[in-house]
Amino acid sequence: MDEARNPYTPNAGSPPRFLAGRHEELEGFRILLQRLQSGYTEQSLIVTGLRGVGKTVLLGRYRQIALDMDWVAVDAEVSKATPFAPQIANLARRALLQISPAARWSARVKQAAGIVKSFSLTMQPDGAITAGLDVDAQAGIADSGELAHDLPDLFEAIGNAAHDSGRGVVFLFDEIQFLSKQELEALVGAIHRTVQRQLPITFAGAGLPQIPGLAGDAKSYAERLFRFPMIGELTAEEAVEAILQPAILEGVLYDYEAAQAIYAYTEGYPYFIQEFGKAVWSYASASPITLADVLAATPIVESVLDESFFRTRVQRSTVEELRYMRAMAQLGAEEQKAADVAMQLGKTSEQVAPLRARLINKGLLFTPRHGYAKFTVPQFDKFMRRHMTMDGISANTDDD
Ligand SMILES: Nc1ncnc2c1ncn2[C@@H]1O[C@H](COP(=O)(O)OP(=O)(O)OP(=O)(O)O)[C@@H](O)[C@H]1O
Ligand SMILES: [Mg+2]
Repeated sequence: MDEARNPYTPNAGSPPRFLAGRHEELEGFRILLQRLQSGYTEQSLIVTGLRGVGKTVLLGRYRQIALDMDWVAVDAEVSKATPFAPQIANLARRALLQISPAARWSARVKQAAGIVKSFSLTMQPDGAITAGLDVDAQAGIADSGELAHDLPDLFEAIGNAAHDSGRGVVFLFDEIQFLSKQELEALVGAIHRTVQRQLPITFAGAGLPQIPGLAGDAKSYAERLFRFPMIGELTAEEAVEAILQPAILEGVLYDYEAAQAIYAYTEGYPYFIQEFGKAVWSYASASPITLADVLAATPIVESVLDESFFRTRVQRSTVEELRYMRAMAQLGAEEQKAADVAMQLGKTSEQVAPLRARLINKGLLFTPRHGYAKFTVPQFDKFMRRHMTMDGISANTDDD
């Protein structure tokens, strides 16, 4: 098929041509904004899910929904490399400048600008993030240097400015598992303040599934301030839509069995669907795409995933970790009892528990229920069996 018109998007954060499912999560966000707009309070949203399920894409949609409702939306990706306080100072500055143009600032908005400036200068004393804030810094507010004190002041100021201008503000943060405990605590405290004041300002985040626990540790009332919708693989029906719809937009159809076979391979995992769609589009020569096309494209998809996706996961693992996962793969793709994996390794559960915990922490395994673990992505068991010896060493030596 015409490669220039390949409609699939197997890239991190890349908005799919057709967003399948996620209706509840989208509706939940709309209701959140509507409620805040009308002066009700509502829990902020933190979307959690494993790698590649579509968290970044969903945050992108949230941004669009906010803009469509005439809210100010500012977004950032949290990373270990970028300090959070200056990052949020910059977002606050951008939010304020978008609430209303400086020439039309009311006394309230000017005051907020002074607070944003004081926060910015406290967190980044060289003044690098104060462009457009041509006001004096407000002394005594948001300038203690303690994020836990200053962030609530900052959010309250922005919330007041938004309220005064008849607007709303949403902060969107991706990868929030990278926030430190102190940063998360400050953020929870800031949201708490804006809820108490019933201000039209909120926060929506996305991150790996360990977030609810982290936030709960950070502040006991976090669970009441936030909802943590978890997203995962698409249902069979949604997955088929995710496969068919992008092609239909280009006038290309699939045979029923072809779409079903892609669903069977990908198990509804959004990133794999895009990768498979892309490969089968490249391979097929005419519409409708057939089961034979899908079968022929399968080894292509497999090698693309091996080279990029699976390989990078393996490269970040120690030999011990690889050996554990290889033993688990030997037992099959389904969830495995910790004790069975330990036995496969000739060890006790206690001996391998720290190893298992590390793999869960790295997002390679998850625990569907107590005492069990499963690979976080489909086909990983087969990759391990194809490429690893039981010793956790790459089976094809020319691979590395
Ligand atoms: N609802 C959906 N329907 C169809 N495709 C989707 C959907 N959600 C995400 N995708 C596709 O899945 C892939 C992964 O999406 P995204 O990068 O948002 O995942 P993520 O959860 O943020 O992953 P990571 O944790 O690695 O950042 C992208 O190629 C995207 O186009
Ligand atoms: Mg992402």
